[in-house]
Amino acid sequence: GAPITVDISKVEIGQRLTVAWRGKPVWIIRRTPEMLASLPKVDANLRDPNSNESEQPAYAKNEVRALKPEWLVMVGSCTHLGCSPTFRPDHPAPDVDSNWQGGFYCPCHGSKFDLSGRVYSGVPAPTNLVVPPYKYINDTTLTIG
Ligand code: FES
Repeated sequence: GAPITVDISKVEIGQRLTVAWRGKPVWIIRRTPEMLASLPKVDANLRDPNSNESEQPAYAKNEVRALKPEWLVMVGSCTHLGCSPTFRPDHPAPDVDSNWQGGFYCPCHGSKFDLSGRVYSGVPAPTNLVVPPYKYINDTTLTIG
């Protein structure tokens, strides 16, 4: 399909916009400085902190998994069986997890992801959430696909 164009000018810091791309939800999350600061703290708890096994464009194979650190663009489908994880930016751990810094929690079978969509160890999801191809047209407009 053709790329879609998304206006991100109304997305406030800490908020998420969801758009549809190829029949899937794509999340666009404007991360706070605190969210970005949380990422290195969880590396040791993650299955694949460097995103070696997951699907993302080369320009998003980094700790923020993004072109611009503030903006996370990610397919909102669990890499286990495709449920939609919930966004829990500051939610307490869904179960015992001493290093939960906020992220995404899949209600279907309990997979947990950090605020870059990187999967925690010991949950059913095999890989980090998928980052689709995207680019910026200008500071407030991007295309996905
Ligand atoms: Fe998300 Fe199974 S579909 S944990």
